[in-house]
Amino acid sequence: PPGGGSSGGGTLAKDALGNDIVAEEWLKTHGPGDRTLSQGLKGDPTYLVVENDRTLATYGINAVCTHLGCVVPWNKAENKFMCPCHGSQYNNQGKVVRGPAPLSLALAHADIDDGKVLFVP
Ligand code: FES
Repeated sequence: PPGGGSSGGGTLAKDALGNDIVAEEWLKTHGPGDRTLSQGLKGDPTYLVVENDRTLATYGINAVCTHLGCVVPWNKAENKFMCPCHGSQYNNQGKVVRGPAPLSLALAHADIDDGKVLFVP
């Protein structure tokens, strides 16, 4: 839609350069198990997840730490998200496994709309 980044009630995912993410292209350059930051709902940094069968997962993982809001990096070697601020850890699905974070990372529904990745609340 004109002027918007949104479509059908959702928000088109953006890559690091602010471009819409075309699912097919994305999957060519990201492998099974990858968790890669994109821009999601409300502009929040949100991980796109590639499943082991190389399809895009139907969920994105919000990267904002539920403790005090640091962006939580993915640590592939540890298979966890590890917050650099106060040591919270989340498993590869965003479930909190070590505090002080009180809650798991939020998930956003990820869909493919007209070939592009769309986040829906
Ligand atoms: Fe992540 Fe405090 S902001 S542990």
